[in-house]
Amino acid sequence: MSTSGATYLLGVNQQELERLEFQHKVWGAVTRKFFSRLHVQKGWKCLDVGAGPGFVSMDLRSLVGAEGEVTALEPSEFFLSSFEERVASNGWTNVKLIQGRAEEADLPPRHYDLIFARWVIAFVPDPDRFLARLVTSLKPGGIIAIEDYFYEGLSLLPRGGAWDRMPEIVRAYYRSGGGDADIAGRGSFH
Ligand SMILES: C[S@@+](CC[C@H](N)C(=O)[O-])C[C@H]1O[C@@H](n2cnc3c(N)ncnc32)[C@H](O)[C@@H]1O
Repeated sequence: MSTSGATYLLGVNQQELERLEFQHKVWGAVTRKFFSRLHVQKGWKCLDVGAGPGFVSMDLRSLVGAEGEVTALEPSEFFLSSFEERVASNGWTNVKLIQGRAEEADLPPRHYDLIFARWVIAFVPDPDRFLARLVTSLKPGGIIAIEDYFYEGLSLLPRGGAWDRMPEIVRAYYRSGGGDADIAGRGSFH
């Protein structure tokens, strides 16, 4: 499925949805620890950018409670409709869904306490533009936080096996979609 002008490199289908669910089970505790370091509070307004099927949004909803607000921004209709079903079955009235890419999204100005993107910016061809759009929607004093991989850290020691080539193969794959697998190691944005 197209993602409004760009195709999500890893695909939009049931298999990818289940892979993301598994990945969330592996990394969810790390993400929740990140949220505790950010001191996410009850009542906060949060934007989950590139929310996929909404696993991070669900964790944020449990932190901000009924008095807060969580918005899932996601280009894929397939992922969003799966999340919409979970939102309805939980009876959440303070979870919003916006379909679209961050770069063109119609977001409220100076609104969010936290804008969060996990495993998204590495796929984005123009990360400065992506961030510039999001910043306009941040409340003064709010936080933009990004969680992503840094492939340099993925090594299997002792070296000498097939794994040695893995980081470079992943980098080439991300580049083929216009992204940057090592974006998490980039020091600054403009
Ligand atoms: C690897 S998935 C991560 C999903 C979710 N953040 C999570 O942690 O489970 C990347 C998601 O980013 C979305 N995406 C890709 N480019 C995007 C963009 N420019 N703006 C917003 N979302 C984007 C994709 O459609 C996909 O759902």
